[in-house]
Amino acid sequence: MKTKILNALKDNQGKFISGEMLSKSVGVSRTAIWKAMNQLKEQGHKIDSQPKKGYRLLQEGDALNASAIESSLGNFPFLKKTIYLNKVDSTNTHGKIEAEKGAEEATLIIAEQQTGGRGRLGRNWHSPPGEGLWMSLILRPPIEPIAAPALTQVAASAMAKAILKTCGVPIGIKWPNDLWIGQKKVCGILTEMSAELSRLHYVVIGLGVNVNTKEFPLELTDIATSIFLESEKTFRRQDIVASFLKEFLPLYKEHCQTGRPKKALEYCRDHSVTLGRDITILQGENRICAKAMDITEKGELLIELSDGTVQTVLSGEVSLR
Ligand code: BTN
Repeated sequence: MKTKILNALKDNQGKFISGEMLSKSVGVSRTAIWKAMNQLKEQGHKIDSQPKKGYRLLQEGDALNASAIESSLGNFPFLKKTIYLNKVDSTNTHGKIEAEKGAEEATLIIAEQQTGGRGRLGRNWHSPPGEGLWMSLILRPPIEPIAAPALTQVAASAMAKAILKTCGVPIGIKWPNDLWIGQKKVCGILTEMSAELSRLHYVVIGLGVNVNTKEFPLELTDIATSIFLESEKTFRRQDIVASFLKEFLPLYKEHCQTGRPKKALEYCRDHSVTLGRDITILQGENRICAKAMDITEKGELLIELSDGTVQTVLSGEVSLR
């Protein structure tokens, strides 16, 4: 009901709609409309209510609580539970704690702010309040542990599609886990798992998206960007989360059912900023210079060394030369 009311207000942005008209079009009492308006205001929407005129939307809110996400998602049974935290060290760390306690498949942890956001290779992830999406999805896929790293590419393609659909901004995918706009990073993915040699217990996929960030700390300005900085528009983070989950499900299902995320990898190849480029791959102390040739059907990067040898790489930190 709240989504219907919000849509009616959005269609009339700037103009008043009477409570009576709203109650007729949504099919609920005027008291129910009044209650829903209060809830929408609590969610951060700026709504002007005037006794004889009715209601008008002044500004859409960008609250990130569970009910805001669920209202953007509509009826979408995949998401089992949303845990919203105003402040947390890291949604991935929290996700692992929840998973150890038995959290179900498709539990989402989302935070307004991370005080110890983690990137790959022990780096920090800048996660201030109010600007970005800092979230982790707990999964228990019925796949071999060796097939789990490809989930990063499932998440990367789902988020790239979601940003394009919701914000109209085209995204490049840098194998295996970065989303770029132009030459700068807009989203990073950190996939962590718990497994025995042949049995996967759970996977936590953490995504950090710079959505409405207006300014980055000096040390990040050359490498990081946000959807706002590239489009000069702000976006509701809850819509990006909802769109991500909807894009993720079919790609994830294919991976679970066949052990290969064919469609996700196709999308990654088609939108890759890595393929065809001369790259350097860091694997611990090891540094490999090569040309990125392809992404295999398992999600590995196929590279050609300067002596013509072709090999595959399952993980590593890639930089473009
Ligand atoms: C990277 O590019 O190095 C990966 C960055 C991943 C950041 C996200 S933000 C939500 C989740 N929680 C974390 O602590 N990290 C991931």
